[in-house]
Formats: sequence, structure tokens, C-alpha cells
Amino acid sequence: MDHQAPPQVRVLDAADAAVPFLLQEVRALASGQESESNQRPLISFATGGTFTAFFRALDAEIKQGRITPTEFLGTHLDEYMGFEPERPGGMLHELSLRCPAMRDMLARGSFLPVPCHGAEGSLRAHEERIERAGGIKLQLLGIGRNGHIAFNEPGASLDEGFHVTTLAESTRVDAKARFVPDQPPRRAVTAGMKSILTAERIILCAFGADKAAAVTSMLQGEVNGTCPASALRMHKNALVLLDSAAASNLDAGAIAGAMH
Ligand code: GLP
Repeated sequence: MDHQAPPQVRVLDAADAAVPFLLQEVRALASGQESESNQRPLISFATGGTFTAFFRALDAEIKQGRITPTEFLGTHLDEYMGFEPERPGGMLHELSLRCPAMRDMLARGSFLPVPCHGAEGSLRAHEERIERAGGIKLQLLGIGRNGHIAFNEPGASLDEGFHVTTLAESTRVDAKARFVPDQPPRRAVTAGMKSILTAERIILCAFGADKAAAVTSMLQGEVNGTCPASALRMHKNALVLLDSAAASNLDAGAIAGAMH
């Protein structure tokens, strides 16, 4: 992956317009339209406020039988260190609250949780499980205000698999609300950029003016670990969905088209 191929960039009329688009991507994968193999496709979800509306809609789709949860496998990007799935503040806890169907998938063994204690052997075993499942077909991503992806903070290596990392202070500030009255954890377990870039398809969503600077560095800055999200420019099949506020600092040439 030493080439650069600018991700497709679409600017949405509003953040909500991403929901039907993402549901359609999941539906197409789950229904097998996109695959020649018999293996259930593995979809890796991102947590965070960016995906709240999507998860609620995904849960409704599953309840109404329009997406069948037994037809795909799920996983996620990252977890706060030591946060078991039932612990409030954790990523998997958030995901299960917003989309209870994911909790059922976890109970059935069709959702692969990130090993939250970060033991080296458990991280390698997690990578092997992903590989045995045929790799990640679709990776959803958000972006931090400082350009982080999952918990790959500025300065991260672009060549690492799942690993334990120390959170940037700005990330801890942004995460404060979910841990009140406690302080946010200092460490987390995360998919590394190398793991993320092995996904067949990547869709990154960024909404709101707070994300505009990170989006500009991602798409127009240098490709290096200073802005981990810039590594998406080394991927052949990446799509970036923005609202107009997140796209507001971009040069017009960076944008492929509007999406209504
Ligand atoms: C978090 C997560 C990321 C997420 C990002 C943006 O800290 N580690 O996976 O994409 O920050 O979060 P939000 O969508 O809440 O802005």
C-alpha cells in the first residue's frame, strides 16, 4: 500500500443523509449481493456520536427484518482499557445500548469483541479470528478532532496491528462526558492503522465544524502519522462522507460530488 489514491469525498446535505446510505452498504453485504464466497461478511463498526443515528436505524432495520443479523459477523475498532462489554462508558456498552441487536450477536458469538485487557496473546488471537472470518469487508470510521482514527493518536505508527495505546489529552477531554463523575481512562486497546487499512472497503464519516481541521489534514496534509487519518489516502476503496460544516475548509478540488 505504498501508492496514494485520494478517497472519494462526498458532501451530504445533512449528516442524517449518511444513515440510509450506510444501511444500504450493510444490507448489500449481509444479503450476499457483494460476495462470491459462502462466508458471512465481517463488518467492523466505529462507535462515537457520529454513528448514533446509524446504530438506532440499524437496530430498527434488524427488528423489522430488513437486515438479518445472522447473515453477517460484526466487530469494532477499539475499547477503553479493561472495559468489559457491560461496563458503562465502554465502546461495546455504547454499541449495545444503541443497537441491542449487537448485544445479541455478541451473546451468539457472531460479534468479535476487541480484547479489552490488551494482553499480547489475546490481540494476536483477535487478529487471527478476523483473518479466519475472511478479513473485514466493510470498515466504518469516525475521526477525532485531532485526526485520530480508532485510538491511533497523532504520532502513531501507520504499520501496527491491534495494540495498547495512551490517549491524547484532547481525546480524553472529548470523552469526559461519558465517564462523569470519573475521569476518562488513560489507555485503550485499538486496531492499528495497518489492521484498518486491510479492510476491503472503508467509509469514514465526519460531521460538524469541530471536525473541519482534521478533515482538511486528512485529505490535504502530508500522509504520515501526524494525522493518522491521512493514511486513508493509501487505501484503494475509501469513501469519506461529510456534511458541509466538516467540509468547509477543503479545496473544491478535493470533493467528488454532492450527495442528496
Ligand atoms: C473516539 C473513537 C473513534 C471515534 C472518534 C470520534 O474517541 N476512538 O473511533 O471515531 O473518537 O468520535 P465522535 O463520533 O464521538 O466524534
